[in-house]
Amino acid sequence: MLTDKRILLIIGGGIAAFKSLDLIRRLRERGAWVTPVLTRAGEEFVTPLSVSSLAGEKVYRDLFDLTDEAEMGHIQLSRSADLIVVAPATADLMAKMANGMANDLASTLLLATDTPVLIAPAMNVRMWEHPATRRNVSRLRGDGISVVGPNEGDMACGEFGPGRMSEPLEIVAAIETALAEGPLTGRRVLVTSGPTHEPIDPVRYIANRSSGAQGTAIARALAVMGADVVFVTGPADAERPEGVHVVEVQTAAEMLQAVQAVLPVDAAVFAAAVADWRVASASDSKIKKDKGQIPSMEFAENPDILATVSQMTEGRPRLVVGFAAETDDVIANATAKRLRKGCDWIVANDVSPETGIMGGSENAVTLITEDGAESWPRMGKDEVAHQLAVRIAAALG
Ligand code: CTP
Repeated sequence: MLTDKRILLIIGGGIAAFKSLDLIRRLRERGAWVTPVLTRAGEEFVTPLSVSSLAGEKVYRDLFDLTDEAEMGHIQLSRSADLIVVAPATADLMAKMANGMANDLASTLLLATDTPVLIAPAMNVRMWEHPATRRNVSRLRGDGISVVGPNEGDMACGEFGPGRMSEPLEIVAAIETALAEGPLTGRRVLVTSGPTHEPIDPVRYIANRSSGAQGTAIARALAVMGADVVFVTGPADAERPEGVHVVEVQTAAEMLQAVQAVLPVDAAVFAAAVADWRVASASDSKIKKDKGQIPSMEFAENPDILATVSQMTEGRPRLVVGFAAETDDVIANATAKRLRKGCDWIVANDVSPETGIMGGSENAVTLITEDGAESWPRMGKDEVAHQLAVRIAAALG
């Protein structure tokens, strides 16, 4: 149920705007208050009268409406809701959001707000697949905006493919998830994930086999439980999690910098497979193959991000969780690692090739705390993530 939840619904200009009328009805049925905002282009598809009749509230349309400003200014309007929903989110509106433009009421509200935002994109399939839209979607996700859909199917323009706005009930479900209160609501949690790439020269780098799957699953599980998650990731294959703030980095040094910029947090989970060494002096230009000459490389040690944060004397997160990827004597090595690095917990796993864990979908972990080692049965990485999130919530109380 959405009883007494306040939704600010921005209706963009697309044929899918007609579905937003049904969306209003569904939200009202569930007890939500809907304050509608109609863009100029949106008015070409649905009338202000039908929108306000269904919402039972006035519809906001103009940025410089003197009556509106006297009743409720646009800044206040943008912050008075529990959630802002943009449906349909057109390619144009998404481009404005991704670039921080504010030249009409809808885009100004979206820039002025500190309320969570959910968008339901709707556009022609070519527009959806255009590199500019792909770029905008990933930026918006990185800004912590949740995205529902689009679906695949026949389109009003006669083409077929992804671009149809999600159905009203699918959007309602996404709204319910976005508004769900969880045991981690109000907690800020940092998660590092993925490999790092350490450059040799502009085209070559040293990396490792981490896919980022476990870190991504942990970020997602924490967000589902209500945490405000900042996800600092190296160049991982795994798709970026929804509804979290994503910070992309390449090297260990950049990851440390990004982590320090995110602090303070309540808890930090270091799931990244950070490269232990970097090339001491990476070349600025491509190293040429010089008749039989094999280049030699000197390495320098990377900063240990987990140890740095664990050993902070001021502003240390209340709970610091490290990972230990081991191939031999897993529990003994990981127990020693916990003490050496100074973290509270270590999630240890055996990454010997025969386990198929590195890059696979399952994990068999042992949780090491000051109370000892607790081995969990082999399970999906999503389930490991959920169990870990439950433990983190209990530890933060
Ligand atoms: N880690 C880190 N920064 C590094 C290296 C590791 O933050 N430069 C973190 C990882 O994110 C992980 C933990 O430290 O949470 C353990 O990583 P692991 O590679 O298993 O340990 P190492 O310190 O590299 O020890 P070793 O390779 O000797 O096992």
